[in-house]
Amino acid sequence: MELDGKVAVVTGGTRGVGAGIARSLVAAGAEVLVCARRPPEVPLPGTGFIPLDVRDGDAVRRALTALPRLDLLVNNAGGAPHRPLTRADAERHIRVLELNLLAPLTVSLAAHEHLRRARGSIVMIGSVSGSRPSPGTAAYGAAKAGLEHLARSMAVEWAPEVRVNTLVVGMVRTELSHLHYGDADGIAAVSRTVPLGRLAEPADVGAAAVFLASDAAAYISGASLLVHGGGERPAFLDAATAVPTAVPADPPAVVPAVARTDKEP
Ligand SMILES: NC(=O)c1ccc[n+]([C@@H]2O[C@H](COP(=O)([O-])OP(=O)(O)OC[C@H]3O[C@@H](n4cnc5c(N)ncnc54)[C@H](OP(=O)(O)O)[C@@H]3O)[C@@H](O)[C@H]2O)c1
Repeated sequence: MELDGKVAVVTGGTRGVGAGIARSLVAAGAEVLVCARRPPEVPLPGTGFIPLDVRDGDAVRRALTALPRLDLLVNNAGGAPHRPLTRADAERHIRVLELNLLAPLTVSLAAHEHLRRARGSIVMIGSVSGSRPSPGTAAYGAAKAGLEHLARSMAVEWAPEVRVNTLVVGMVRTELSHLHYGDADGIAAVSRTVPLGRLAEPADVGAAAVFLASDAAAYISGASLLVHGGGERPAFLDAATAVPTAVPADPPAVVPAVARTDKEP
């Protein structure tokens, strides 16, 4: 299998997107360790659990250096509640930056020596919120934008030994989707806004992570891979009131006199 004999760490791999990534890596033959503050509520066969707060630099370094080897790091732990900027003080927003930008840097630095020796790779879990305005989650969007840039810089600094890429993820159906999109009707309505007609499943993100970690992606580093089902239909198309008119036929091609010569210009 693609990842036979490889050892992977998935931060926040105990539920949601991270659990989907962990399952896909196990299915591809990897030995997978998931870390989070609490153990998984639903068993994740084939994985080990490391209790860890990724914002605690000392604990991160202890946990990572204790591993005998590491081939793949997936920086997945992240997220943020919906909170308009003026509804919280700066310190609350800074916590969001810590989890979504500084923690991936901390974990990557702690993993670097292992990954360098193994000629391994890092997959960052980014978000479409990092490249379009993210009202209500502005600090989160800013962190995800920074995360993609961090990945591109790491890819250059740590080449050729370590490849670093980002999965830029759209909306995913997880145990917590109702917090963002509401009940089944809300999820169905949101799904209709996605060109592929549905939210991603965690396994869709997992399949993309397996690809980026595998030898099939041996020449891919510093890349951002969109996993968003085709993105968003531009809002103006639904707001515009112009009545579509027939497109005029192309006028017949007129060959200018100067071109009616066999001579080179
Ligand atoms: N769901 C989506 O629609 C979506 C869309 C785009 C991108 N993403 C990205 O995908 C990733 C996962 O999102 P999700 O929706 O699956 O989130 P989730 O369901 O809230 O899961 C987050 C995971 O991270 C862990 N975690 C949170 N804070 C942590 C900390 N300080 N230290 C260690 N682990 C921590 C959680 O476990 P504990 O709470 O036990 O620590 C859990 O395992 C995030 O980076 C998110 O930005 C998600």
